Amino acid sequence: MPERILQWKEEYSIGEEEIDSQHKRLFEIAAGAFSIVSPSERAAKVKETIRRLVEYTRFHFDEEERFMKEELYPHLDTHKELHEEIIISMNAFMRRIPEMKIQELEKELAFSIQSWFIDHITQKDKQIQAWLQKSVALKDCWSGMRSMRLSMSRLMVPTKRFCWKPRR
Ligand SMILES: [Fe+2]
Repeated sequence: MPERILQWKEEYSIGEEEIDSQHKRLFEIAAGAFSIVSPSERAAKVKETIRRLVEYTRFHFDEEERFMKEELYPHLDTHKELHEEIIISMNAFMRRIPEMKIQELEKELAFSIQSWFIDHITQKDKQIQAWLQKSVALKDCWSGMRSMRLSMSRLMVPTKRFCWKPRR
């Protein structure tokens, strides 16, 4: 199961090179937890992987939030809350590590990766992509209208409304 979960898929891409490469890096780090090592090293390896994962996730979320802010993404606050929930869940997981058996730890990690990263990317980060695409289309529409010299104020208002609220 971990191998399948930790496989990056093109469908996870949100079309932003930097964000996508950071998402790929999260998968790479997580995969480290399932690399083959001697039985005596397994627990230490999983713990170290989770520690690195939390550290990189914090960096990535900051970067993603900065990106959303720059792009004037309208759902930044809600998205930030989701990031915060993931960090809280990761910290809770870390605290439980000492009392967990290695098999339980690996199983739960694989399950958590699904919700922390795969579900978040495919359901929430994908919404950023959808908004960016719409926003680019709107900018094109608006500049297209302006270049047609529809500059009389009487015409501008309905034109702007047409551009910013397109039919879907
Ligand atoms: Fe995100």
